[in-house]
Amino acid sequence: MRNVNDILDLTTDEIDDLIETACDIIENPKKYSEVCHGKKLATLFFEPSTRTRLSFEAAMYELGGNVLSVSSAASSSASKGESVADTAKTVSCYADIIAMRHPKEGAPYVASLNASIPVINAGDGGHNHPTQTLADLLTIYREKGTFDNLTIGFCGDLKFGRTVHSLINAMSRYKNVRIILISPEELKVPSYVRNDVLEKNHMEYVETKDLLKAMPELDILYMTRVQQERFFNEEDYLRLKDSYILDPPKLANAKKDLCIMHPFPRVNEISVAIDDDPRACYFKQILNGKYMRMALILKLLKEAGTI
Ligand code: NCD
Repeated sequence: MRNVNDILDLTTDEIDDLIETACDIIENPKKYSEVCHGKKLATLFFEPSTRTRLSFEAAMYELGGNVLSVSSAASSSASKGESVADTAKTVSCYADIIAMRHPKEGAPYVASLNASIPVINAGDGGHNHPTQTLADLLTIYREKGTFDNLTIGFCGDLKFGRTVHSLINAMSRYKNVRIILISPEELKVPSYVRNDVLEKNHMEYVETKDLLKAMPELDILYMTRVQQERFFNEEDYLRLKDSYILDPPKLANAKKDLCIMHPFPRVNEISVAIDDDPRACYFKQILNGKYMRMALILKLLKEAGTI
């Protein structure tokens, strides 16, 4: 059974195909409006979400399918102690495909080992978030037309930010990509990302605390929220939460065609005064997420022989 736990579970050719399908969906939505008729997506979200869950659900509805949803751990038998394995086996009796978000790293992978239907990781702890990366890649493709020769600044919580880890992984496969990692000392990327992704793939990268100094070089600025829920103590969170706030003066030396991204939710990392700047791409990124999730659901259901 084909599952997506990690963005690297998809080859670059498959990502290109998903982008092509997403672009075709954007151009010809009617062509796709009944392709999943009678099929069900189960969204199993054991952690809060607005965009990821609703975009998966909107995606399935726009493909003509239906949705079954667990929107919090408290409302499911997980709160009674049910294992991820049993939940996966149970939901396989009702649905055709699962999108799972879980606070434990690897939980969607455990689900995929036990389900008899495809499982998509919709975010596991501070680890991975492959479908956000698909949204990010479609955004980069539509804004820049290429994945090669780009300088990408990741700014904020690079330690716990799973979207950052997945996107760095994805970018490791393209040519001449430069990564600038902008964070406070305490929120630098985990050593496994530094060693197993950046170093291992000989990627060009620097670590800095200085957003303003990096700004003029950037083609893409990927802002992130400080992940309060993954901190062990409130004091550290309060000290670090406002480390970087992007406002119009900070863009003074930015490129005219900079692409500003953020996986959202934003707390106050990007001033709303930037929302009308043509370089703000984060609302487009949200919409792109729905199209890429449509493309992914289609691909996995086709491979499973369900449609
Ligand atoms: C992100 C997540 O859940 O990892 N949100 C999302 O899915 N778009 C980022 C975050 O929570 O900060």
